[in-house]
Amino acid sequence: MKRRYLAVMGLLVIMAMVLAACGGGAATEAPAAPAEPAAQEAAPTEAPAAEAAPTEAPAAEEAPAEAAAPSGDVVTLTWVGPGPGGEFEFRKQQAAEWNAANPDIQINLIEGPVSATDRIGLYLQAFQAQSTDIDIMQIDVIWPGDLADNLIDFNEYGGAEAVAGDFPAIVQNNTVDGRLVGLPWFTDGGLLYYRTDLLEKYGFAGPPATWTELEEMSQTIQDGERAEGNQDFWGYVWQGAPYEGLTCDALEWVYSSGGGTIVSPEKVITINNDAASAALDRAYSWIGKISPPGVTGFMEEDSRAVWHAGNAAFMRNWPYAYGLSQNDDSAVVGKFDATALPGAEAGQSAATLGGWQVGVSKYSKYPEAAAKVALWLASEEQQKAQALSPNSLIPTKMALYEDPDIAAQREFMPKLLPVFTSAVARPSTATAPQYNEVSNIFFSNVYDVLTGKQSGADAVANIEIDLEDLTGFEVGAP
Ligand code: GLC
Repeated sequence: MKRRYLAVMGLLVIMAMVLAACGGGAATEAPAAPAEPAAQEAAPTEAPAAEAAPTEAPAAEEAPAEAAAPSGDVVTLTWVGPGPGGEFEFRKQQAAEWNAANPDIQINLIEGPVSATDRIGLYLQAFQAQSTDIDIMQIDVIWPGDLADNLIDFNEYGGAEAVAGDFPAIVQNNTVDGRLVGLPWFTDGGLLYYRTDLLEKYGFAGPPATWTELEEMSQTIQDGERAEGNQDFWGYVWQGAPYEGLTCDALEWVYSSGGGTIVSPEKVITINNDAASAALDRAYSWIGKISPPGVTGFMEEDSRAVWHAGNAAFMRNWPYAYGLSQNDDSAVVGKFDATALPGAEAGQSAATLGGWQVGVSKYSKYPEAAAKVALWLASEEQQKAQALSPNSLIPTKMALYEDPDIAAQREFMPKLLPVFTSAVARPSTATAPQYNEVSNIFFSNVYDVLTGKQSGADAVANIEIDLEDLTGFEVGAP
């Protein structure tokens, strides 16, 4: 008991240090997210399916040495979960369900940082200390290359079989030098949410296809709603705080304007071009006009709070906001839809590819038990539960796109599948294991554009110089 307590305390100390170092405190001052009512379907009552939690031990010669729990002892694993909010509530239900069905392996779920940037800071510190305090962790789609050396290879625990039905590109992304370091859990893609009722009210036939149309529609609707007395109304909300989410939004602006992907898959630094700088200047022009001045402090939940209260015509966000926007406490129930984001030209749309994997720390004392839990969390049954939960997380299991319950309750998932499958990847493979630093350089410079400290042209030139220093890659056109 005492050892466990010390381990958790150690982890909390690391978390506090990381949050302070990342300045996470400032960025996490989110307006309180609306409370989510516990949804029935989010708490399946059946015990985990046998095939989802394989019981066979891995072949002896492949199995790494593991401290076996003395018989009768309970293995307790620490899982660093999502930040506070709807998803954490769902993860708590999953942990409770697992714990009830598996008395010998208990999960201790703790709240993780909200920001992906803070989260990787936490993991890097824990890995550097070879800390045994974290067993199960959530891995962003951009991290397998950066973190691979610190994660177990699921191929030693039946992983290959478990991922046979996942989108091959996502499995590929989790495979580093032949090692399967993450189990696909859910995928993500940037979406444009829009108010169907307001488009109709102001005479627009459909959502905007170009950024110019989005600006015009935002302004018209904002002017009209304010004239009717809602002074809190804004045209467009998105993610402008200096963290990984800004890299996602800014990549969409740049790529959908023909400005490339920062660094190409061929390891060429392509960011210093006119289309990219114009895209950043354009985003700056929104602030205080169609987007609130506070948007430069917004992460996903901050944008969603404005939208959820009925105070925005458009929002850029991930699919999780779809289900939450349908909750009883949402002001936009039955009044919204989601589609592909606009582009500089119609049809040039870009969605940044996001998504999460389940990983197990190679410093875990109980990798086999942790792998068992990870396989269950990433199983088809659990992916279905999380898709139907209020968080509407997008499955990575192809079969779920044919599932009748998902088709009935989450119509938007099969409908927007083309957006998710054609999403643009951040340059994490080309720049691994330095992607996190690449992203920091990118979003810090973009943030300086959004806060009026530098022009788009200066920003792309500065990003280029810093990336050359960091990676030693060539520069070139997108
Ligand atoms: C979402 C995406 C993830 C991305 C993050 C940025 O969680 O799934 O890939 O890095 O948002 O905030």
